[in-house]
Amino acid sequence: AKQILFKNPNEPPVVFSWFPFFGSTVIYGMDPPAFFHANRAKYGDIFTFILLGKKTTVYVGPKGNDFILNGKIKDVNAEEIYSVLTTPVFGKDVVYDCPNSKLMEQKKFMKVALTTQAFQSYVPIIADEVSSYFKKNPLFKSQSGIVNIGPIMAQLTIFTASHSLQGKEVRNKFDESLADLYHDLDMGFSAVNFVLHWAPLPWNNKRDHAQRTIAKIYMDTIKERRAAGQTNSQDMMWHLMNSTYKNGTPVPDHEVAHMMIALLMAGQHSSSSTSSWIMLYLAARPDIMEELYREQVEALGADLPPLTYEDLAKLPLNQAVIKETLRLNAPIHSIMRKVKQPMPVPGTKYVVPANQTLLAAAGVSASDPQYFPEPDLWEPHRWDKESPIAPRIPRSDPEKDETIDYGYGLVSKGSMSPYLPFGAGRHRCIGEHFANAQLQTITAMIVRMFKFRNPDGSNKVIGTDYVSLFSRPLEPANVYWEKREKIA
Ligand code: HEM
Repeated sequence: AKQILFKNPNEPPVVFSWFPFFGSTVIYGMDPPAFFHANRAKYGDIFTFILLGKKTTVYVGPKGNDFILNGKIKDVNAEEIYSVLTTPVFGKDVVYDCPNSKLMEQKKFMKVALTTQAFQSYVPIIADEVSSYFKKNPLFKSQSGIVNIGPIMAQLTIFTASHSLQGKEVRNKFDESLADLYHDLDMGFSAVNFVLHWAPLPWNNKRDHAQRTIAKIYMDTIKERRAAGQTNSQDMMWHLMNSTYKNGTPVPDHEVAHMMIALLMAGQHSSSSTSSWIMLYLAARPDIMEELYREQVEALGADLPPLTYEDLAKLPLNQAVIKETLRLNAPIHSIMRKVKQPMPVPGTKYVVPANQTLLAAAGVSASDPQYFPEPDLWEPHRWDKESPIAPRIPRSDPEKDETIDYGYGLVSKGSMSPYLPFGAGRHRCIGEHFANAQLQTITAMIVRMFKFRNPDGSNKVIGTDYVSLFSRPLEPANVYWEKREKIA
């Protein structure tokens, strides 16, 4: 009753809950999108709930996305929320363990290694990793079978990312110690660490040991490269170890190592979850998988030559499959910021008080019928120009398509968009183009090799696991596969 009596009329409506500290934590945690949809229907686009004792204000829709993701540095802060989780995993002095201005410089260094020229070399590397993976894996020895696709895609993601971004030396170490070490490191991202980051959780010793060991492997590689006077490589490590901050300080080796870990971890969860969803959708829609195969035959020739970066642009349906999957299953369902000073919400009477958490959930607008007709239908053809269910994305004047530089190069300001799987603003993803190249290559290669369907032959797609911080398909996510006969 007190809460109701003293409720400030300028604060957004508060989601009712019986539980003092936990508030709506459990309901939110079980199914965040369902929680957002239900409360949006009740309270509108902006509402507050209690997440582990913290008042958390959700603002959905394009205006909410813009309000939070393009928030000013004096108003919103990411590192105060994320660093308890990310610093032990990535290591010190990078990403959220440093001032935002330093992160912006680090993102600029990372971006330099992600050029068209780099992608031209990455695509063949990724394609080769995919074909040799299926040749070597005993699970795929016979002509057909059923497999839990989650772990397969996790391995494919880490092999392809490490080989392309970190070079052959590092990739080869994944057949030895690195796979287990990264597995231990991964446990640092379990959701309980958010709640109990101070507790001596048993797996945190393993996490810390893994972080130190992996960082040492990278630092030793850097030293070897320096000693050998190696200058011809152009991979991510090479770019980072030759970068210099604006104040004249070269990036120290431990920061290079920690950025390498951060990049691999950022890409791992998001890309492997997305590729698992793609495979599950293809199993539910074998007709689309056939169309993808025909698309390659028509665009590249019946002998299906080795895939290149240029080829990817000739496969619009292959691209649309990625886009449509990220519309419905973006792995990052909640983006959070700490409010640093009271923030008036434009066009409303509300003021979000300091010290609250702001939560952006771009997935809500990505499944809003206002922008995406038949929103719950996975249909890559909706991205065709003439589709009757084409996205209705309000566009600002393309003549003055606003771009902005937060310190890591120009990015489109377009945060008023209902479709933002890669975020927006100063924390926007720098891995988008890499992820797209990686996902398109993996999908195209698998389509060349296999036909999929659901084991029960249905068009159903499994539900989502929200237990980890990145959402992914529930497991076992079983897919029936059959090797494709090459057409003569
Ligand atoms: C940031 C999504 C792949 C590196 C982000 C953000 C999102 C996102 C939503 C914004 C987070 C925030 O505002 O708090 C995705 C998705 C991916 C993907 C959906 C794949 C399907 C990758 C890959 C890399 C990467 C492959 C590295 C090569 C980063 C980095 C940031 C970021 C460095 C910046 C963090 C910051 O500035 O705070 N990503 N990402 N991501 N992502 Fe990705």
